[in-house]
Amino acid sequence: MAIVWYPDTREFHLRNDFISYVIALLPDSSPALAYFGKPLALDGRYSRLVRFEARALSTHQKGLPPSFCLDFVSREYPTYGRGDFRFPAVELETEEGFPLVLDLHYKDHRVISGKPEPSGLPATYCESEGEAETLVLLLEDRAEQIEVELFYTLFAAHPILARRAAIRNNSGRALRLTRAYSASLDLDSPNWDLIHFSGAWARERHLVRQPIAPGVQGVGSLRGSSSAQHNPSAMLARPDCTETAGEAYGAILVYSGNFSIDVEVGSHGDTRLGLGINPFHFSWLLAPGDSFETPEALVGYTAQGFGELSLHYHELLGRRLVRGQWRDRERPILINNWEATYFHFDEQKLLEIARSAKDLGIELFVLDDGWFGQRNDDTSSLGDWEVNREKLPHGIEGLAGSITQMGLSFGLWVEPEMVSPDSNLYRTHPDWVVGSPLAKQTLGRNQLVLDMTRPEVVDYLYETLSRILSSAPISYIKWDMNRHMTEPVSAALAPDRQGEFFHRYILGLYSLYRRLTRSFPQVLFESCSAGGNRFDAGLLSFTPQAWTSDDSDAIERLPIQWGTSFFYPPSSMGAHVSAVPNHQVGRITPLWTRAGVAFFGAFGYELDPLKLSDTELEEIRQQIAFYKVWRRVFQFGSFYRLSGSPAVDDNLVAWMSVSQDKRRAVVLVVQVLAHPNPGFRRLPLRGLSPEQSYQVKVIPAVPVKNEASIRFNEGLRRGDELLQVGLLLGGDGWNGVSRGDFTSWLFTLEA
Ligand code: DGJ
Repeated sequence: MAIVWYPDTREFHLRNDFISYVIALLPDSSPALAYFGKPLALDGRYSRLVRFEARALSTHQKGLPPSFCLDFVSREYPTYGRGDFRFPAVELETEEGFPLVLDLHYKDHRVISGKPEPSGLPATYCESEGEAETLVLLLEDRAEQIEVELFYTLFAAHPILARRAAIRNNSGRALRLTRAYSASLDLDSPNWDLIHFSGAWARERHLVRQPIAPGVQGVGSLRGSSSAQHNPSAMLARPDCTETAGEAYGAILVYSGNFSIDVEVGSHGDTRLGLGINPFHFSWLLAPGDSFETPEALVGYTAQGFGELSLHYHELLGRRLVRGQWRDRERPILINNWEATYFHFDEQKLLEIARSAKDLGIELFVLDDGWFGQRNDDTSSLGDWEVNREKLPHGIEGLAGSITQMGLSFGLWVEPEMVSPDSNLYRTHPDWVVGSPLAKQTLGRNQLVLDMTRPEVVDYLYETLSRILSSAPISYIKWDMNRHMTEPVSAALAPDRQGEFFHRYILGLYSLYRRLTRSFPQVLFESCSAGGNRFDAGLLSFTPQAWTSDDSDAIERLPIQWGTSFFYPPSSMGAHVSAVPNHQVGRITPLWTRAGVAFFGAFGYELDPLKLSDTELEEIRQQIAFYKVWRRVFQFGSFYRLSGSPAVDDNLVAWMSVSQDKRRAVVLVVQVLAHPNPGFRRLPLRGLSPEQSYQVKVIPAVPVKNEASIRFNEGLRRGDELLQVGLLLGGDGWNGVSRGDFTSWLFTLEA
């Protein structure tokens, strides 16, 4: 890994074993991207790869050659107003609204070993200086006295750059920042598909793949959270890019609030990708001497298909973004009472569930919504974090005590950022909500949002949550957030700072998380937002796992976990087995399929075991015993998507995980609908060692009589054959030997 500055050609070359990223200084001294792709030799010079040309209608700056037209140039941190008519990365105006025309020219640079921490925002990190190097490029508009620092951290082990910007006002007068993207990436071809992960409640992060076209396209959120509608991550991939071959760039924002990912295809086939805080309803007052730091963006490249890029993002997010004691620890198998009881439970019912869970081998009992105030439905009590003694006469302390005595850990649901109008907290502090209590109010799930821009609200929540966490042996917290934001103003902010509301909210949220995770490092936090409405890399820095979706149906989970897995590692995805008929879609799926899909995540159950038959309980016992043996492979193995891209063919979905030493692997194959008399199919595996032989088994060991999928595959098989040919599927379903719809096979491989 190296970051080298070549003064003769005025270029920087950031290079590791996977990528080269070359930044060249243009004739006006602004930085341009010369190359981002497979590694190039360090002793070469590449600044001439940045091309500019005079064309009809092109403009050029006075004093520079007519060929120097910014509109066609691959710029690193573009500004508007000097001949580049595409969307910019940064915009500033005076307090009165007079726009600044920015020229950001090279002033200085430094190369740092390791990675400097941003202040206040979550980010990836290094554990030793040798893991990464950082180029800090200092740009300046001398006339306006604005400085911009661009940070580029290159990790030795990944084809990924961590990028962010810091904008400083040295002008001596107050200025307003109206756009501050984290990164901008100009590519010189329009031949890309935009891949993004979009949906809604209960169908989050479905993969969408669309060819890009001239003009601007993209995704974003204006909901106050990263949202279920669009995830703050995307890829630009060659149309022929697949899981195993082809070029793609990835970009993910380490941020939980309003974001924007834009792609603009210019009229000369140039493609600009920009990402950062959504500029809509954003402005930030920069007093003289103030700086603004953008969130971090992680920008990656592969020439070997999506699978390769996903592996690197999993490793980087899982091991160098997630922090704390739980980062590398196997996550407990939990049971959550939500779908078992919803709001209607008492201590006796919970203890019955816990006893049965313990008997099945479950390790953590999680008490969900409804334990506090008068919370018997979703119309009241958020904010009143006092236990409901009618339901729980011995309090959380008593319940947690009884459960931990059984040998289970205890976890609790909270929704700290919210308040019900029908609550003591709201009656006492109506001024603490977002918006103004006297003006228009919009409810979401009957609740209002606490104003996290106010330090006193954050302090109050820190104290309240600390009190709860200290009152009982609580080792897990599920932190929910069940609405989008409206009336986005804060009574605590001055009128000229209202554009700061959304970002300050997220800064307040991060500061609360930071304080709590520091004070209670032993607690495993799982974030949640009406399912996966805030599943993002910002929160992942504090919560090693997140509830992936309220949709717990195994078949619905296939596209959800598929899309999520493009950037986020399996260990981050909360995944539970629930009852049938499924509560979201009414589907009946086999218990082993439900488990097989949920195994590839932070695994648990969300059902009432007392309503299950003895056969089902026995199956669950087997599932748990199996998962305990294979948990590390499922949660921390290298994850591969083998078959069933939702964009191509989603009837036979298969994915696998391989242990780091390549000696153990698990493969899940789900057949959504059974078809009669199917043909044979080969499913090549990935990530195995070609030299090893593997003992292949099918789990569970209750085959349908003489089943071909078992006959063909079980036994000792060579790694090279499994990589080239793979599992042999099909052959059942012509003679009555079929497991039917929604069936699945789980294969284990041991060297
Ligand atoms: C939404 C979550 O996603 C569910 O799992 C559950 O915790 C409910 N909220 C409780 O209100």
